[in-house]
Amino acid sequence: MKRLLVTGGCGFIGSNFVRLALQQLPDCRLVNLDKLTYAGNHENLKDIANDPRYRFVKGDITDGTLLEKLFAEEQIDTVIHFAAESHVDRSITGPAEFIQTNIVGTFTLLEAARKYWLADNKDSSQCRFLHVSTDEVYGSLGDTGYFTEETPYDPRSPYSSSKASSDHLVNAYFHTYGLPILMTNCSNNYGPYHFPEKLIPLILNNALNGKDLPVYGDGKNVRDWLYVVDHCEAILTVVLNGTIGETYNVGGNNEKQNIEIVTTICDLLDQKVGLLPDGEARRTLIRYVTDRPGHDRRYAIDASKIKKELGWSPAVTFEEGILKTVDWYLDNPEWISAVLDGSYQNYYEEMYGNR
Ligand code: NAD
Ligand code: TYD
Repeated sequence: MKRLLVTGGCGFIGSNFVRLALQQLPDCRLVNLDKLTYAGNHENLKDIANDPRYRFVKGDITDGTLLEKLFAEEQIDTVIHFAAESHVDRSITGPAEFIQTNIVGTFTLLEAARKYWLADNKDSSQCRFLHVSTDEVYGSLGDTGYFTEETPYDPRSPYSSSKASSDHLVNAYFHTYGLPILMTNCSNNYGPYHFPEKLIPLILNNALNGKDLPVYGDGKNVRDWLYVVDHCEAILTVVLNGTIGETYNVGGNNEKQNIEIVTTICDLLDQKVGLLPDGEARRTLIRYVTDRPGHDRRYAIDASKIKKELGWSPAVTFEEGILKTVDWYLDNPEWISAVLDGSYQNYYEEMYGNR
């Protein structure tokens, strides 16, 4: 029986992961530690909130005392570390929180795992600490080439620098203390429960409501889009079968320019819900706006290591994934309106009271 501590399980990827882990690991115990920042929404997990194998703890990964208590109380043997500040634009306007959560928080979590797993000659052979990171640590590509696990780190934004820093700490805990770590660096995710500040859900929501669609710069920056459930499957594969100390790149094999993403969403919505009230196509809402400072041009992952060594490859094509995503947002208007009007932040109190 695995005893998992998932950090950031109320965010976009974390909530998709918690659901999948409970489905695929019938004997597990799963503790979700989440601070519920603006990006954390416990409503994302309302379908599993009463599962007897699941426990939610509202708390901060920078709180070492709480972490030590949780490791001991729950006899944690597996950590899946998602909790982070994750939005590049926010890291440009307010980097402090990124340093605190992504660097200090990861350090505090590593310390708690080290103290609990490696103290008193305990047997840590079944323990795993999986750190979820990003391809943005590798910097920006030109028109050709791919990021491999050997690509030197070259982060450009406060977000990617803070993730790079946390990656180095995680590797250091393996080499220095023998902490049983694993690391995944993945490309841009998309799918259900994605907070509408990131490109795909923001464009979807704006296009649905006839609002302007902001495209940064010339719209030709490239991202490699990975369907979130495929990513969660990859994480489970790595935590169950990966080699301790190794990093695995996870990508969708779906390179697209931003403008292609935006026009695809516009056209799909035109087909599914009809044209705008004035009879115009949604593409007319596209507005080219001032570029993001330090905007990385292209990300593309070479995911051959995880395919060759662990047999994982993405199952969902972009065409399938974007359809599923558009349908999910159309089917869940109350989720998006609660996020937009802020009422999603009351869900925790309604569910758990004031504890
Ligand atoms: P998210 O912003 O949707 O969710 C982050 C979660 O972490 C939220 O629930 C938030 O409340 C929680 N959190 C933040 N600070 C915390 C703290 N101090 N203590 C406890 N909980 C805290 O993020 P996401 O998109 O789900 O990303 C999850 C992880 O995957 C992050 O580490 C991110 O860097 C990485 N990643 C994301 C993508 C992507 O495309 N979204 C791509 C590559 C890597
Ligand atoms: P984003 O979803 O913020 O992810 P990341 O910056 O981590 O890759 O942005 C994806 C791409 O879309 C990126 O090239 C920036 C661009 N973008 C826009 O053009 N307009 C927007 O409103 C947003 C949020 C992003």
